[in-house]
Amino acid sequence: MKINARYKDLKDSYLFSTIARRVAAYTAAHPEKAVIRLGIGDVTLPLCPAVVEAMRKAVAEMGEKETFRGYGPEQGYDFLAEAIGAYYAERGIVLDRSEIFVSDGAKSDLGNILDLFDPDNAVLIPDPVYPVYVDTNIMAGRAIRYMDAGEENGFLPLPDEGEKADLIYLCSPNNPTGAVYNREQLRLWVDYALANDAVILFDAAYEAFVRDPALPRSIFEIEGARRCAIEFCSFSKTAGFTGTRCGYTVVPQELERGGLSLNGMWLRRQTTKFNGVPYIVQRGAAAVFTPEGQRQIRENIDYYRENARIIASALREKGVWFTGGENSPYIWLKCPDGLDSWAYFDRLLEEANVVGTPGGGFGRNGEGFFRLTAFGDRADTEEAVRRLARM
Ligand code: MLT
Repeated sequence: MKINARYKDLKDSYLFSTIARRVAAYTAAHPEKAVIRLGIGDVTLPLCPAVVEAMRKAVAEMGEKETFRGYGPEQGYDFLAEAIGAYYAERGIVLDRSEIFVSDGAKSDLGNILDLFDPDNAVLIPDPVYPVYVDTNIMAGRAIRYMDAGEENGFLPLPDEGEKADLIYLCSPNNPTGAVYNREQLRLWVDYALANDAVILFDAAYEAFVRDPALPRSIFEIEGARRCAIEFCSFSKTAGFTGTRCGYTVVPQELERGGLSLNGMWLRRQTTKFNGVPYIVQRGAAAVFTPEGQRQIRENIDYYRENARIIASALREKGVWFTGGENSPYIWLKCPDGLDSWAYFDRLLEEANVVGTPGGGFGRNGEGFFRLTAFGDRADTEEAVRRLARM
């Protein structure tokens, strides 16, 4: 038999698993050190009361014969899909119920969506980038072309007319750099995708952190995107669901390639390989869209934004170059003293007992940069900033 030998082309372990292993080794060797984790973008505030209450009620329903539910619709319950549709409608984006697919998170769907595309497709991925896009394409045996992101283009690469691509990954607000595309820039991408018969895989997991009303939060704010884009979103960062697991993917009905409807293909894929998100979790997710839920999650997002401001202002004071932190929970800084990003990771861990994410883990162009997350606890963030300043 033949195994999928492309796994040999992957790095030994997933970026955040590597970091977790290195931090675990350090804390085992130095149990007396108070290590502050600003590495993986994992939230620290609990689920908001509206979500907890909705889930509690759903648990009670599951415990009664009359209200118990077994298998749910693979694409999510109507009550949640309709709430997601209303959330888009507030921004003037009209979605049909059939275009919204509830999932267990953006990471899974970003990997699973590749089932719809031929391994021979040319795929264009920004560098640096969230490692899932790269690793899932390596697993599928697809040749990857990278688009360079750097200080020269504000970490926001734009289409190159000379480059032919079938699949294009865009993430805005960007993980890891925190950069956000404006409308004009996204329009260039939509025009390029339409002209090349390409599909944009748009990761909007951090849309709720955009505070500038002039900046787009969805690719579907751009005319023509319904014919060339799929959008992935998540409750993880917006509502603290990293451990609860819920997200959604929007596949427009107009999106067709090779004579097939991508919406129909995704429905076929999901009904075959996925049995839906637990009812209890979907009830919790729906509560995010109630007026109370919105108010409560906004408070949490503001808390993280304040963390970002605290980190950013300390870096500014010390004259460290950085992007992000304003419309994004990530701060992307240049490693001081010309250190490479893993060397800076080690130095920060050993001298300040602070964990961040080395830019090199996000691609070649991330080398020399470092990512800090604003999802930490407030007191920890303030302490981390003090330790950094002392370095
Ligand atoms: C990150 O730190 O980049 C994210 O937490 C990873 C993820 O959302 O899967």
